[in-house]
Formats: sequence, structure tokens, C-alpha cells
Amino acid sequence: MLILGIETSCDETSVAVVCDGTEVLSCVIHTQADLHAKTGGVVPEVAAREHVIYMIPVIKQALKEAGVMLDDIDRIAVTKEPGLLPSLLIGLQTAKTLGYSKDIPVDEINHTMGHIYSNWLERDANEVQFPVLVLTVSGGHNDLILMKGHGDMETLGTTLDDAAGEAFDKVARLLKLGYPGGPLISKIAEKGSADAFNFPRAWLSAPSFHSNWDKKNFNFSFSGLKSAVLREIKDKDFSDQFVADVAASFEEAVCDVLSAKLVYAVELYGIKEVHLAGGVSANKRLRKMVCERLSNDVIVKNPVRLEYCTDNGAMVAVASYYLNPFIY
Ligand code: KG4
Ligand code: ZN
Repeated sequence: MLILGIETSCDETSVAVVCDGTEVLSCVIHTQADLHAKTGGVVPEVAAREHVIYMIPVIKQALKEAGVMLDDIDRIAVTKEPGLLPSLLIGLQTAKTLGYSKDIPVDEINHTMGHIYSNWLERDANEVQFPVLVLTVSGGHNDLILMKGHGDMETLGTTLDDAAGEAFDKVARLLKLGYPGGPLISKIAEKGSADAFNFPRAWLSAPSFHSNWDKKNFNFSFSGLKSAVLREIKDKDFSDQFVADVAASFEEAVCDVLSAKLVYAVELYGIKEVHLAGGVSANKRLRKMVCERLSNDVIVKNPVRLEYCTDNGAMVAVASYYLNPFIY
């Protein structure tokens, strides 16, 4: 089955052709990062206008790279929500128009489901050991999900305010590093000390990972951390070392909370397989900390390519394949 996946929920115009769920024949991504770097974040109307320009060229390129025609496509999968409404509408309307004119069924997919299924891309689906614990960490969402089977998900925790990626982006802006913040902070943090500043961890019920906190609270909160960074840097000289130390200490605080809650959920639910997904799952420190804190018999998977961590059309197609097997 050939699925054309369309993703326009934020600032990536992406279209992919995916065969039988996991085989990616093409995945074209037009990123608007340079455009939004000028404003230090995504302006929804600017993003939508850019999607209008690139939507059709990206579809044509994805079909060309896959070596197929629109008539060969069995289904169109498109991101429905959550995301920036003006951006979502471009993808949705394009998908519905193509579907109507070519008589191809259209499947509307939840964006977080797309991230969850990004770990299926270019992998053998038979190797997955349910129940899987999935940590999706992006700019717009941040969830800890117990996945018992296809379409059988229980959300254990979610963000109460800023998602981790949003915190990376906002702190990068405070440090005048640019957009998107995650990769920029991560790179500069390599030259800094993670112990330089003791930024707060929002365990949401007790003082630290190592003390007797209510571990069953799997929700996340990163807005206080962002405010703590703001207080720390106010009126300070931004020497290269100072910025690197703030970046490293901030990254450490985010990864500490994400990995600690994940590890406890693994123990509580007897999990044998963990998936990291979403833009922040590209973060090297997070990947390392998760592996260090888990016992060796737990399998940890990240999307096989970095481009599958951030928003892309292939994840929308694979989610549609597994969530809705019977749309023809
Ligand atoms: O999944 P995604 O492309 O979009 C949303 O659904 O929000 O994630 C984008 C987010 C941005 O906030 C970006 O700063 C963050 O992922 N990100 C990273 C890294 N690469 C991207 N955060 C930390 N470390 C990275 N290496
Ligand atoms: Zn996303």
C-alpha cells in the first residue's frame, strides 16, 4: 500500500511516499527555520504563507523521488491537529482537494500519533515488544505514553505549561542564539559545564529525583526553569563561557527530569522497550542520559534518521497505516 503523507502543522512543509507502513520511498522536507530565525520564533501567518508557496512543489518532488504518480497512491494521510491552525489548514485543504479530485481516501492523523510512529520508519515492525513506553518531546507537545498495541495508548503524563522544545527555543532566544533553539543550545552546551548553575527541576511533588517524591506524577513543567534562566542571566555579560555554561546547565535540567520520569515509568510498568520521539529526541545528552539510567535489558529506540525526529510527512503516513488499516 502506498501512502502519501502530508505534514504542515508548524514550520516544515513535508511530504513523503511510504510503502506498506515502514518503507520510505521519499521524504521531502522544506524547512522554514531561516525565515523564522529573523523573528526568533514562528509567526503563524508567515508560516502558513510559506506553506502555500511550497506545498505543491514539495508534493511533486516527493512523487518524483519515489518514482510514482499521484494515480499510484492508495491513500493520503495528513496532519489534522494539534498545531498552528493556519499552517494545518494548508495541508488539510490540499489533501482533501487532491483526494476529491483523484478519488483517493484521505486519513486525518493526530500529530503526536505521527511522532509516536516515527520509530517504525525503516524498521522491522515485528521486532517491537509491546507494551512500549514512548516519550514524545517536541516544541508543541511533551507526553509520556504507554503504548499497549496499535492505537491502544494511555497518556501517563503531559506538559502542564511549556513543552521541552519550547523551553529550548525560549532559552535560546534569551541567550540570543537564534532559532530553532534545541540544536543551537545543544552544540554550545558541549563547551560548557552542566554543574555551573543549579537550575530547578520541576518534579511536581518533591525536591529531587533522589529523594522521596511522588514518582507517579508523570506530568512535566518547564516554564519555571525558563524563568530561572532569565533571572540568572539578567544584567550579566554574555561571555562565550557564560553562555555555554548556562546552555549546558539548562540542558542538564531538562534531560534530568525527562529521563527520571521515563525511567520510573519503565520500572513501574515493567517495560522492555522505550521509544524517544519528537524534535528533542535528537538531543544527544537526553539519549545518553536515558541509556545510562536504564538497565541494559531495556531496548531504547530513537527514529533511525534525525529528520524523522522533527516534523516530517513519513511519520504521518506510517501512523495512518497502523492506526487505520481498513480505509480504502
Ligand atoms: O517535533 P518538532 O519538529 O516540532 C513540534 O512538533 O513541535 O520539534 C521541534 C522542536 C524545537 O523546539 C527544537 O528546538 C527542538 O525540537 N529540537 C531540539 C533538538 N533538535 C530539535 N531540542 C533539543 N536538542 C536538539 N538536538
Ligand atoms: Zn512535531
